[in-house]
Amino acid sequence: MIGFVFLLRLLVSIRPGAEALDNGLALTPTMGWLHWERFMCNIDCDKDPENCISERLYMQMADMMVKEGWREAGYEYVCIDDCWPSHQRDAQGRLQADPKRFPGGIKKLAEYIHSKGLKLGIYADVGKNTCAGYPGSLGHYETDAQTFADWNVDLLKFDGCFMDWTLLGEGYTNMSTALNQTGRSILYSCEWPLYEWPFKKPNYTAIRETCNHWRNYNDVDDSWSSIKSILDWTASHQDTIVPPAGPGGWNDPDMLVIGNFGLSHDQQESQMALWAIMAAPLLMSNDLRHICPRSKGLLQNRRIIEISQDPLGRQGFCTIKVDNFEVWERPLSHKRLAVAVLNRQETGGPRGLVIRAVPGWKICDPQCNVTQILPEYRELGVQPPKSKVVLSVNPSGTALVTLTPISSRFNMYELQKQETIL
Ligand SMILES: *[C@@H]1O[C@H](CO)[C@@H](O)[C@H](O)[C@H]1NC(C)=O
Ligand SMILES: *[C@@H]1O[C@H](CO)[C@@H](O)[C@H](O)[C@H]1NC(C)=O
Ligand SMILES: *[C@@H]1O[C@H](CO)[C@@H](O)[C@H](O)[C@H]1NC(C)=O
Ligand SMILES: *[C@@H]1O[C@H](CO)[C@@H](O)[C@H](O)[C@H]1NC(C)=O
Repeated sequence: MIGFVFLLRLLVSIRPGAEALDNGLALTPTMGWLHWERFMCNIDCDKDPENCISERLYMQMADMMVKEGWREAGYEYVCIDDCWPSHQRDAQGRLQADPKRFPGGIKKLAEYIHSKGLKLGIYADVGKNTCAGYPGSLGHYETDAQTFADWNVDLLKFDGCFMDWTLLGEGYTNMSTALNQTGRSILYSCEWPLYEWPFKKPNYTAIRETCNHWRNYNDVDDSWSSIKSILDWTASHQDTIVPPAGPGGWNDPDMLVIGNFGLSHDQQESQMALWAIMAAPLLMSNDLRHICPRSKGLLQNRRIIEISQDPLGRQGFCTIKVDNFEVWERPLSHKRLAVAVLNRQETGGPRGLVIRAVPGWKICDPQCNVTQILPEYRELGVQPPKSKVVLSVNPSGTALVTLTPISSRFNMYELQKQETIL
């Protein structure tokens, strides 16, 4: 019954969203690649030229994105995280890339990325220093925004380290204004609520007006416990964070770690399914030069990406926790519903949940067309309210299905048509 309480509370609290940041960007969740989880602050290009943070890394990822179908699947932004700059600003007070690791400079790199039909993201920090100790933007917001615009950068991830928390709102807002005033559309990815939560409940109306997406919770790492902690945090704060999400502004549960080392294939499927349900940015952090075909197939699964990018732009939420299953549901356009059933029992074998137990199943009166997307594609056909379909889910895996309501009148018509043909 807990689930029904969730659902009802959310339905009453959903208001026609606060205004989103008006820069025309992120009308659906951002898709791309971001270096941090996989490559972190590896700056030793002498010892590890393949994997160090250098222009070469982003150029190679861009090449792979074109060659291996990533761009075609929708992944568009190639994003730099921390550790790209020099420790000193230049004589005019501008940030500059580390000259040894970025000999061509960022503008040249942006040109290369654009020539591949992709976009370039960069990283800076609202405070005195970046998290890894490079120069921060505090006191330099206009200069830095203009520098990024001059370089033709397309996205800014703006971190929140080394900042007086009482000034977070001002800092993030001032940078948003500075970006706008450059006249270049730059997607603005914030961490304002993440750094504010320890002190006060963030104002999500203000955040949505300021940012295109915003991190709420800890960095993801390459482990199932990290994915679970993000899902648990999201479910327990969904009344606050789900309503403000929509076209132009999204909650960001952090990077996809699919294709790395720490998640089993079932767990990778769970991350992909739940990130789509949460209308999360799909920013992979992996090595596209070395990725197994199964992980690649999952990340490029068109049916899951279609859920992620659904034009209605509503974030899904957890509707029921029952028998160690968690059901998450996302309303889609055309009155369809995406449903993820996560098996949280990490012992034994596959377990089944009757589809009738899903709270959103109530839209299936008189019937629904049921399509299973994960763990494998299956057309489960047109099902009545009393359907006996059972979704089988592996431990720490997820079954992902879509429900398409079908009216009886439509069906009578179809029936008549068939009879006429016969
Ligand atoms: C700047 O903001 C105005 C008003 O919100 C908006 O109309 C305009 O498109 C924005 N420009 C950019 C480059 O984001
Ligand atoms: C934000 O801008 C306002 C107006 O220019 C200024 O008074 C304030 O100090 C700025 N805050 C920060 C943190 O930069
Ligand atoms: C939250 O921000 C909005 C928009 O900036 C503002 O109108 C509102 O008063 C703020 N709410 C609170 C509780 O501070
Ligand atoms: C049900 O969905 C499947 C998969 O999208 C589709 O091929 C089939 O035509 C649909 N059936 C009906 C009756 O709409």
